[in-house]
Parts: sequence; structure tokens; C-alpha cells
Amino acid sequence: VVDPAGRILFVGAWTDCPTQFKKWRQTRLQGRRVFPAFIECHTHSVFAGERASEFEERLSGISYAEIAARGGGILSTVKNTRRASEGELLRRTQSRVDEFFRQGVATLEIKSGYALDLKNELKLLKVIKKLKGPSIVPTFLGAHALPPEFSSYELYVDYLLTEILPRLRKQKLAQRVDIFIEHGFFDRHLGERYLRQAQTLGFDVVVHANQLAPSGGVDVGVRLGALSVDHVIHVGKSQIEALARSNTVAVLLPLADLYLKCAYPPARKLIDAGVRVALATDFNPGSSPSQDVMLTGLLARLEMGMTLPEVFRAYTTHAAMALNRHRDEGTIEVGKLANFICTDEPLSAFFYSAGRVPEHELFVAGRLASR
Ligand code: NIG
Ligand code: FE
Repeated sequence: VVDPAGRILFVGAWTDCPTQFKKWRQTRLQGRRVFPAFIECHTHSVFAGERASEFEERLSGISYAEIAARGGGILSTVKNTRRASEGELLRRTQSRVDEFFRQGVATLEIKSGYALDLKNELKLLKVIKKLKGPSIVPTFLGAHALPPEFSSYELYVDYLLTEILPRLRKQKLAQRVDIFIEHGFFDRHLGERYLRQAQTLGFDVVVHANQLAPSGGVDVGVRLGALSVDHVIHVGKSQIEALARSNTVAVLLPLADLYLKCAYPPARKLIDAGVRVALATDFNPGSSPSQDVMLTGLLARLEMGMTLPEVFRAYTTHAAMALNRHRDEGTIEVGKLANFICTDEPLSAFFYSAGRVPEHELFVAGRLASR
């Protein structure tokens, strides 16, 4: 039973439902399986242009880092995205968002970061604001790469701090700030300075951390109380222990590891140490040109030793924590939003068949979502 705001008033047998709730919207779920709607907590869904030719190059042995160093990679998407109009970007992004919705995603995180200048980053965040369907959590990823207009990362970070972040707060375009801390991109010291100042301005912070090398992003994230550190591949005992003692969620992105032929993150070690692990697609035109939620969980089961319940938790409860939405979403509980998936299929049919979400119905705030 759900109140007019879409929050759960009661879950259980109708005979046990307190009479004062019986007048509100009810959904009969008897005999069906129900679990929280999926939360996709790390994507770069707003961009223009494809990078399939780079994929070919990587297959012939050229690395992601090499392609980036000679101006390809993220910067090639930046060129295409700056040129694209708001209308075109909205159209492209909406169809990607529809694809997530179709897979049972009720809440979707989307990062900016393919524009890297004031005017165009604002354009991306405005596009994100106009999207329909799932509830969208925008993240500012201006610190994604060094744009051609700047000669040093330090100068660019100063520009982000003084020219862009204050406007984002004023226009309420994003509440979260992300950074790519990696060799050949932003280093840990500059990253820490940037994120601390972002926190001072009132933003929540998250970090792309330890993806290609042990670049220090996890340490920075834990030290600052980041909501999440994402990728988390090159980590040792001390990072894992620090994460376990913190409230920071480790967001693992196995599709990017598949496409980049990287090692998979040590999910088993993280979980056994007590770290909260979430999963996401990392959908983007470079390292993860796929939106496949089921394949993401399947890889976690096949390659990372995660159990099916751990995968479900990673895509619901822990993803909600990574987005700081766990008071409202991520479990089916009185007081939270009635975002849930209802199915006649066994739960073992999920995260099993790549590219195929079993038959299901998605409810958002207690209402059947139309697809
Ligand atoms: O999460 N690592 C940085 N960002 C993305 C890749 C972006 C791109 O290649 O366009 C990632 O893998
Ligand atoms: Fe990413």
C-alpha cells in the first residue's frame, strides 16, 4: 500500500493491513516475486559520437592510455559533444535512458564530463535535467580530462573551482562532483585539493579511482568520505581495509574491464573484508559502449566470484548508498519510495542471460511504469 507521494505505507498480507491505510493505492503481489528496482549508479550517458575505431585500435594492441595521450579517447568525444546542439544531445540521451528504464532501472546516475568548458558542461547538465523516465542523479565530471585550452591540470582545476562549481550550486544543476584520478590524468594531490574545495562549496564527492594503475584515488576518496570510489581494480590490503572501515561504497564496473581487457576488481576480497560493493555499467562511448545491466551482473558472477544475492544487493541497496539515496530507495520498506520490480520468473533467471532481462513489471513510486 502506497501513499499519494509514492511511499510505502504497508507491505504484507491484506488481512494484516491497518484499516487507516486500506483506502490508499494498493498493488496485489500475491504469488509473484518482488525486489527493489535497479539503481544504475555510474554512467556517462550524455555524449555525441562513437569511438568504434578506437576499439579496433585497442584490439590491435594500442592501449587506452596511449590513445588518450595522443588526443583520442575522452577528448575525441569532447570534440563531438561540444559541437552537438542541446536538442540533439537530448534526443540521443533520452533513447539511452529509455533503454535503462526498459531494463528495470528506476534511478539512474549520469555524469557530465564530455564538454570541459563552462558553456558546454552547463549544456550537458541542462540536458540531464530534461530527461524523462527514471529518476536521474546528475554528477559534474568536469575533471575528466585536460581540455585543449589549458596548459596544465592545475590551471584547469582552478577554472573548475572558480568558474564552474559556484554556478552549478546557484543553478542547482548538480549536487555531486566526480574526478578521474589516474596516471596521465589528474593526480592524487591535485585531486584531493579539488575535492576538498568542492566539499567546502557543499558538494558530495565521488572518485574514478585505481582503474588503470594504483593511482591513489581510493586513498583520497576514503580520506574525504567520498560517497563512492569507482572501478577499484588496483588496490591492496591497506586500501581494502580502509574502505571497510569507511562508509564509502566501492562501485565496480566490469563492462569497462571487459572492453579494456583489464583485470577485474577483487570483489570477493572487498566483500569478505566488509566493503559495500555496488555494480554499474559505466556506460560511455570509450571504455564501456554497453548498457547491459544483466551482463554487468553476469560478469560479476562469472569473473568476480559474486553470488546472486550479492549482485542484487549491489544493484539495489548498495547502489542507493553510493547515490546517497538509501533513505528513500534501495530496499522495500515502509517509508521508502515504492520502486520495485515484480516478476513471475525465478530470481536465478536474472543476471544470467546477457542482453536479456526476464519478463517483469517496473513500479516507480507505486505506479506501473509505462515503457
Ligand atoms: O569510467 N575513466 C574515465 N571515464 C570513463 C571512460 C571515459 C571514456 O573513455 O570516454 C570510465 O571508464
Ligand atoms: Fe566512468
